[in-house]
Amino acid sequence: MAGRTLLNVNKLRSGYGNVAVINGLSFDVKEGEIVAIVGRNGVGKTTLLKTLIGELPCQGGDIEFRGRSMNAVPAAERAQLGIGYVPQGRGLFTGLSVEDNLRLGKLVGGRPKEMNFDRVYGFFPILKTRLSQIAGTMSGGQQQQLSIGRILIGNPSIMLLDEPSEGIQPNIVQEIGEIIRRIRTEEKLTVIIVEQNLDLIQASADRCIVIDKGAIVDEILPSDLDDPEIARKYLAI
Ligand SMILES: Nc1ncnc2c1ncn2[C@@H]1O[C@H](COP(=O)(O)OP(=O)(O)OP(=O)(O)O)[C@@H](O)[C@H]1O
Ligand SMILES: [Mg+2]
Repeated sequence: MAGRTLLNVNKLRSGYGNVAVINGLSFDVKEGEIVAIVGRNGVGKTTLLKTLIGELPCQGGDIEFRGRSMNAVPAAERAQLGIGYVPQGRGLFTGLSVEDNLRLGKLVGGRPKEMNFDRVYGFFPILKTRLSQIAGTMSGGQQQQLSIGRILIGNPSIMLLDEPSEGIQPNIVQEIGEIIRRIRTEEKLTVIIVEQNLDLIQASADRCIVIDKGAIVDEILPSDLDDPEIARKYLAI
């Protein structure tokens, strides 16, 4: 399934002011892959995603998307090039309706001309039945579906998900994992998923990159996390 390299991260450095959080991190993601970024709290997973989308500047090294350096490309343009981002905590407009959130998806990224609501409802049918509901009144799992749907509407070629399992019931986790795999197949989407939830990692990812203190310390298969010692070492469980 995996094809050409879509994203190439080379000796990336980033952080906040003088505080280095990502310290020379390198990896590739191929078209059609679902790669999980795992690691305990505070190791730099969110910082990495924010640097990939351009919310934080790259302080060293390089991010190449389709062979083109993104370092000088502002966040809004990266989104238009097809880098979609679902932030930790979902980033919804909780006081607005489901429909408005979907429509406003274009403001947080993506390629609005190609918006296709029916495609999103195909993955998340609940959204179609709740268009007028205020987003903040939806359940955690429904809000997570909305936050992913909102990004899909912009037709990204890669989607970066930051801990989508946060705040959702365990019985929905498996379903979200299966939907992520369906989206990958049907939309030919590449996915980077930051996760600490074992079930979601195993339901969605092809491989896992393990981060500690802003560097890659291991690369494992989701099934390797069946070993409780490995899971304890690499996940905050
Ligand atoms: N805006 C900020 N200013 C200064 N330091 C920050 C800022 N945001 C995060 N940090 C620090 O950077 C480090 C990495 O944080 P980051 O949010 O990337 O971790 P994480 O791996 O996503 O953790 P979690 O699993 O808890 O979400 C932490 O030490 C954190 O305190
Ligand atoms: Mg985080």
